[in-house]
Amino acid sequence: MDDRISRRAALMGAAAAAAWAASPARALLAQRHGALPASIESVFSRMSVEEKAGQLTLMAAAWAGGAANALNPVSVNGTFETQLAEVRAGRLTGVFNGNGAEMAGRMQTAAVKESRLRIPLLFAADVIHGFRTVFPVPLAEAGSFEPALAERTARAAAVEASAAGIDWTFAPMVDIARDQRWGRGVEGAGEDVFLGRMMAAARVRGFQGKRGLAADDAVLACAKHFVAYGAGEGGLDYNSVDVSERTLRDVYFPPFQSALGEGALTVMASFNEISGIPATANPWLLDAVLRKAWGFEGLVVSDYTGDMELIGHGFAADAREATRLAFMAGVDMSMQSGFYIQHLPALVASGDVPMARLDQAVRRVLALKVALGLFDDPFRRIDPKREKTRVRTASALALARESAKRSIVMLKNDGDLLPLPRRGKRIALIGPFAAGQHDLIGPWNVYGSDADGVDLITGVRAAVADQNLVTATPGSGIEEPLPGGIAAAVAAARASDIVVLAIGEGQIMSGEAQSRDAIVVPAPQQALAEAVAATGKPVVVLLRNGRALALEGAVLAAPAILVTWFLGSQSGPAIADILFGAEGPSARLPVSFPYATGQEPYHYDHKSTGRPNPPGAPLEYKAHYREAPNAALYPFGHGLTYGRIAYAGLEMGDAQMAWDGALTIRATVTNSGTRAAEEVVQLYVHDVAASITRPARQLKGFRKIALAPGASAAVTFTLTRADLLFHGVDMKPTVEPGVFHVWVAPSAQAEGVSGAFTLAAA
Ligand code: NOJ
Repeated sequence: MDDRISRRAALMGAAAAAAWAASPARALLAQRHGALPASIESVFSRMSVEEKAGQLTLMAAAWAGGAANALNPVSVNGTFETQLAEVRAGRLTGVFNGNGAEMAGRMQTAAVKESRLRIPLLFAADVIHGFRTVFPVPLAEAGSFEPALAERTARAAAVEASAAGIDWTFAPMVDIARDQRWGRGVEGAGEDVFLGRMMAAARVRGFQGKRGLAADDAVLACAKHFVAYGAGEGGLDYNSVDVSERTLRDVYFPPFQSALGEGALTVMASFNEISGIPATANPWLLDAVLRKAWGFEGLVVSDYTGDMELIGHGFAADAREATRLAFMAGVDMSMQSGFYIQHLPALVASGDVPMARLDQAVRRVLALKVALGLFDDPFRRIDPKREKTRVRTASALALARESAKRSIVMLKNDGDLLPLPRRGKRIALIGPFAAGQHDLIGPWNVYGSDADGVDLITGVRAAVADQNLVTATPGSGIEEPLPGGIAAAVAAARASDIVVLAIGEGQIMSGEAQSRDAIVVPAPQQALAEAVAATGKPVVVLLRNGRALALEGAVLAAPAILVTWFLGSQSGPAIADILFGAEGPSARLPVSFPYATGQEPYHYDHKSTGRPNPPGAPLEYKAHYREAPNAALYPFGHGLTYGRIAYAGLEMGDAQMAWDGALTIRATVTNSGTRAAEEVVQLYVHDVAASITRPARQLKGFRKIALAPGASAAVTFTLTRADLLFHGVDMKPTVEPGVFHVWVAPSAQAEGVSGAFTLAAA
């Protein structure tokens, strides 16, 4: 094994490392291992400096109907005709967030028939949670605790997107999100490192597929945003980040390592600065860590105008300097600013940028285009017929429903109010999300459409025996009251046996640039909830949300609460499946719901402090707020089932882990209820004393198991020293012998069954 591969093996495990070593894409990208195919070398040798800069220039598609305008703050450069002219002149490597095979076909024809060197274009897009079939937002899907499910939805999204000409997705977003005020947590896997790693790897596998990148349904993955984008001060999007190197290494880096370990060949630099140096111009991150330490051989792309924003950061004086700083730090491709095409030729001419660096970046782009099969057949993913037949197929829609229902979390279910009976009860659906195809599919979806989604009332009516017993009343707007709304809602509640209150956030309230200063149900909807609860009718709250919320008043007091996030195309039927018990809820919170916004950033794997404050302990002179404990109201990992689950019988043998050995941890989980359940059994560890203080708990494993009524299962985890690594005083991965607490539990705060083991010295 050469040193790059052994480094990779350390990151991702020997089997994946071997697969990577054998991959043709790797051979192309590993500069010291191989040149490009001879025909491409010959193209490369004929490129002018301007054509080279063109290969490093990516633009939002100007094709009318492209969604990029609506999604991004800076408008598209030029028109479709001027973009075609840039393609013909060899000044563009590709476009992103364009619209379909017709556009891609016309642009690709211009590239391969009318440009001097006939280098094919690359088509990129934000395929974040589905394409035309929309799957749950990634945060929701992380709650399924089923990486295999995330892999399947990513695969299905890639099949649809590739049929529309897309070669490259700007996903997965693998940013750890520990502050729920930040709106972009919705695009990732939540607050936990271990779950984040699993989901990052699964999504890369799904997008890229198993048949190699040249397959016509493979889509190149991009791990973003490198790095610590979720750690912006105050939860404010784009804000400055000041984070220790150790926290970068222990928390923010690992999901990237997993994504790269799985074969992601592109990385997007994040918008934020880190301790004074913007990520987009940070040689330590992009070179020392990413390339040298991790052996990354792929391509780094800026985020949208990220190079230009070096001026806004106060890091570069002007466009030329911004270009030099970003490019020399390691950003190979510039997205949307046009800075590279405008300034790299002059920077090379003046000697401020070495030709060797330009060549290195261009070779990476060409290698990716080769790996994607574009030189062999530039139209392999551009097929108007496939574009029509491969989208919204019955199997994709079935998967949308399956993934949606497996992403729903039941926070509480007092008195077994759920599941609801299918017959004989008058059900009042109340709230802005009771009916209507708005705010269905969720934020950050460029190609899906609310109009193709199925709303709540449609799903509920299809599930009940008598549709006439179901009414829908909005009661309130999302952020504005509705004149007469509350009175109508109260009347509807009074006329019903059960209220289903569908409230929460609109889809514009999370996603890019959508930070909130209070993570609560908007005031008009809270007022609606209070009025409806005052009728005394039993209330099931259905939350629609793109982040954890701090629940209050009647919402918090409702006997049953389901978290339904943004579930995509099949929202209504999926919610009805759970509401009426066709299936039980099986997802868990991927983010902790705090008591109050003021606790943010809150994450269960916080440090203990010198005055820890475990739930239930006296509060005085312990780490807590006057108004709230230092804990979550509903912690990471929490979620109920329709069963009755109990944990018992922790076994760890002699509770000794040899230095090079493994410890088997086993517990028995029983469903004593009358309904089937799927339980997410979680393994947490705490290193009791270490040279670097360790989090109060850390997730180290999970298993989702099905339990029939009355069934028990023994759940086994195996821990080794590698699972206990952290970055030590010298910033190297380390573990120290000593005592570790362990919990096998249903959430990050539940006791479950617990014990301790000892790691012996070497
Ligand atoms: C900006 C976002 O930060 C990034 O996630 C996205 O991929 C690009 N825009 C392109 O749309």
